[in-house]
Amino acid sequence: MQDAIDITVKPLSRACGAEIGGVDLTKPLSESTVRAIKDAWGKHLVLVFRGQTITQEQQLRFAAYFGELGDRKQAPEPLRGRAEGIYQDHRKILLVTNIKVDGQPIGAFGEGEFWFHIDSGYTPRPYKYTFLYAIELPSTGGNTLFSNMYKAYEAVPPALKAKLMGRKALHIHEYKRSEKANLAADISGIPHFYHPVFITHPDTGRRTLFVDRLMTARIDGLEADESEAILEQLYEIGERPELIFEHVWKLGDFLMWDNRCTIHARTDFPKGEPRLLRRCTVEGEPLHE
Ligand code: SIN
Repeated sequence: MQDAIDITVKPLSRACGAEIGGVDLTKPLSESTVRAIKDAWGKHLVLVFRGQTITQEQQLRFAAYFGELGDRKQAPEPLRGRAEGIYQDHRKILLVTNIKVDGQPIGAFGEGEFWFHIDSGYTPRPYKYTFLYAIELPSTGGNTLFSNMYKAYEAVPPALKAKLMGRKALHIHEYKRSEKANLAADISGIPHFYHPVFITHPDTGRRTLFVDRLMTARIDGLEADESEAILEQLYEIGERPELIFEHVWKLGDFLMWDNRCTIHARTDFPKGEPRLLRRCTVEGEPLHE
């Protein structure tokens, strides 16, 4: 069993992100090691472990140190083709990949760019945490960007903060990656949920901005034009370069992030070059301002 004494923490950017050294994820971890990882996570929001070779079971065992594992969300029938893969043999695992076998996707999230989003932000209890492990990578691109939403909240002008306090926003998931949901359409059969525009992180008690370009569609109670203009302003704040840590993947990288205080996106990569990452999550809880 490893001990916390072996752990090193190297910050990776001014925005967020730290590389953790001295931890072998194939092994069970001591309580003090898990505590040290949690401490680093609270400070840096996104943790990176390099050079890991882990099985699905080892990934799930590690993630379970941080809470109840999340089930993979089932898309409603008409959207299922965009979300399900034939090689996903465990309900806690999602394969993030563009790989197809016999013309069928083996996992989800396909090719190309992915706009900033919150994992399962369109549900009543968005995942607290996501864990992603790199198995196959394209020659270039497919980087994952993380933005620090504590800093984004701080950057919202005071008058806008006052205007948006107490308001909720609608989050919709149509299982697209770089296109907004169609608000003019009937969304009753499409996963959606209203969350406060600002949430208080349940563990740290700090406020964060809880909107993202891909899935946040409308601020409740505002006219459409005003809602759109304000959301655009909020996306622009949340996507400021100084708030972002960009992770350039290497094989064997294992990342973990907190969805209550970060949003993430993916850069484009050459179409058809295989990219495969294995994802699991920890269940979340209802979120409040
Ligand atoms: C995800 O949003 O969970 C996947 C991000 C990625 O493919 O880099």
